[in-house]
Amino acid sequence: MLKNVFDWCKRHIVLFTIAAVVFVVMFGFINVQILHMTSEPEFCHLCHPAQGFGPLAEVDSWEHSAHGDAGVSCLDCHGRPGLIGYAKAKLGGLKDTYMQLTISREEKLEILSNPHEDLVPSWHCLYCHSDEGNKIVRETTRGPMKLVNMRMLDDVVNPEFRERKGLADIMEEDYVGGVHFDHSLHIEEFDLTCRDCHFGVVHNPATATDRMNFCLTCHADAGGDAPQMADCKVCHETQVAMNEGTGVEGIETIPSLMYGDAADMTCTDCHTGVTKGVFRPSSATCTDCHDDDTYKSIFNEWAETTKARIETLKAVRVEVEAALLDADAAKRNTAEAWATYEQALRNLKFVRNDGTNGVHNYEYVTAILDSVAADFKKVMTQLDSVW
Ligand code: HEC
Ligand code: HEC
Ligand code: HEC
Ligand code: HEC
Ligand code: HEC
Ligand code: HEC
Ligand code: HEC
Ligand code: HEC
Repeated sequence: MLKNVFDWCKRHIVLFTIAAVVFVVMFGFINVQILHMTSEPEFCHLCHPAQGFGPLAEVDSWEHSAHGDAGVSCLDCHGRPGLIGYAKAKLGGLKDTYMQLTISREEKLEILSNPHEDLVPSWHCLYCHSDEGNKIVRETTRGPMKLVNMRMLDDVVNPEFRERKGLADIMEEDYVGGVHFDHSLHIEEFDLTCRDCHFGVVHNPATATDRMNFCLTCHADAGGDAPQMADCKVCHETQVAMNEGTGVEGIETIPSLMYGDAADMTCTDCHTGVTKGVFRPSSATCTDCHDDDTYKSIFNEWAETTKARIETLKAVRVEVEAALLDADAAKRNTAEAWATYEQALRNLKFVRNDGTNGVHNYEYVTAILDSVAADFKKVMTQLDSVW
């Protein structure tokens, strides 16, 4: 019987070879597909299914995070860079599965509520967020970075990646995420880790008030030249620029009606609660000075229109970036289009970093968002012209 099979193969050696190659390729493909499938957030969702934030809600919280928006997937953070890092993450997945079957729900919650401090170590964040950190990992990773397209991590080469995503080199720049803050000074001088300030960065974000309070543990009484609590302007670079109506190249200066010498107003005229630890005012503050409830509706109108426009532009951004990547894959000349895109991204970030949906300077915000929309359109036109 076996002999017959061998005989057949010998007689049809070409056919056999083709069949064997097809089989191996198919098998490999299916394996890669399984690897790929079990890396997707949908898969993680099977066992991490809750809604909201915190333990068990890791997939849902990720979906609503800046990282989720930017396409940074679970294994981009929870696996180490390189092929070996990927394989290790896969073995970790096997352990997860084993644990799922053997431990109680309470034990699982206990583990998820107390993530190990090295679960995602600082160097791993720096791989994407600094040029030096990226270089070190690339130089010291043994073995190939990747086999096939599995995840974003293995294509991250800085500064290009950073710039295209509109991110700062956090160890070199001291204007990050809208705040004047020198990461390397603080991290090196006080031995802080990313987790000290960005704990829960994806799954259970600390509030901005928490973060400012952390700064104040030193900056309420830091001595020397260090800024003090009343020096809002030193730390809040974006909000100052927004109130002054500056900060975006190519758009004329439009100062806020309610800031500076003209109105004789400063930050704490609206931010009246700071000394009591309430940093954030609300529509109720409008009527401190304007004795008419319509000003509350004006606040809401500003906030709603701005929010809706930002959401629309975020969706457009995703489409435009995809079009750019497609054009790159087709080896078209995209340099000019990327430059326009990065400018639009910077300006959109400026508005998001201000964080007030237009309250600080509605007229200026409107002008900026107009220019962002125009730039996104321009990118598509530029792409059409470089076929
Ligand atoms: C079959 C169920 C199951 C699936 C699917 C699953 N997990 Fe888990 N996961 C668990 C269990 C149970 C634990 C707690 C026990 C442990 O640490 O393994 C856990 C814990 C974790 C932890 C914390 C480990 C620690 O030590 O604190 C991370 C991170 C994690 N999972 C990520 C993922 C990612 C990413 C995926 C998708 C690629 C995923 N999990 C898919 C069941 C699962
Ligand atoms: C695979 C690359 C990658 C890794 C790894 C990574 N990030 Fe990011 N991160 C990004 C991208 C891309 C964005 C941009 C999101 C956007 O468009 O606003 C971002 C945004 C951020 C932001 C600003 C938005 C926010 O959520 O507040 C912070 C802070 C941040 N990352 C911190 C971290 C920390 C801390 C780690 C490690 C636990 C980390 N990142 C790991 C790629 C990465
Ligand atoms: C002492 C607190 C502190 C520590 C420690 C810290 N950060 Fe930050 N980080 C901040 C603040 C403040 C901002 C400004 C915006 C904000 O609050 O989200 C910021 C912003 C960022 C941003 C956003 C940059 C952008 O262009 O939008 C990234 C990325 C980031 N940090 C990554 C890291 C990483 C990676 C580490 C660890 C190596 C780290 N941070 C450690 C306080 C800290
Ligand atoms: C930007 C990096 C980043 C991404 C992307 C990311 N995580 Fe996490 N994850 C962390 C960090 C950092 C921790 C450690 C605790 C903390 O700071 O929130 C963590 C903690 C966890 C934990 C431990 C329990 C907990 O809630 O803290 C689980 C489980 C987990 N992540 C699963 C996931 C899954 C599933 C995805 C994809 C849907 C994902 N993570 C995407 C950075 C990330
Ligand atoms: C562990 C104490 C400590 C914490 C926490 C801390 N700082 Fe500082 N910071 C200092 C000290 C001390 C200096 C003065 C250092 C010097 O001039 O050498 C300083 C300097 C500064 C400066 C002026 C130097 C510069 O970069 O221009 C800024 C701005 C600043 N910190 C912002 C922040 C912000 C924002 C936070 C919170 C995210 C923060 N700091 C958290 C201790 C701290
Ligand atoms: C030492 C630096 C520093 C100083 C000085 C400072 N802040 Fe902050 N503040 C921060 C940081 C960092 C955050 C978090 C920003 C973020 O996450 O985007 C913050 C957050 C805030 C928030 C947002 C709170 C929330 O929960 O939404 C408000 C409002 C604010 N600050 C107002 C002020 C005002 C007004 C002053 C001056 C009286 C001031 N800050 C002084 C660093 C500072
Ligand atoms: C006309 C009143 C007014 C003035 C003047 C003003 N603010 Fe605000 N600010 C607000 C209001 C209202 C909010 C909350 C907006 C909201 O919740 O949508 C806010 C929010 C903020 C936030 C939080 C942004 C975020 O990311 O969540 C910061 C930081 C801030 N202001 C800083 C400043 C600084 C610094 C100045 C001075 C340069 C200033 N503000 C001047 C009314 C004002
Ligand atoms: C500390 C006092 C103060 C607070 C608080 C304040 N404003 Fe004003 N507002 C002014 C001054 C001063 C002017 C400029 C004088 C003028 O032209 O009437 C002004 C002008 C305006 C104008 C344009 C002129 C007008 O009267 O229609 C609008 C709209 C406005 N403010 C809305 C708001 C909203 C919305 C809030 C709440 C976020 C707010 N203001 C909070 C003092 C304040």
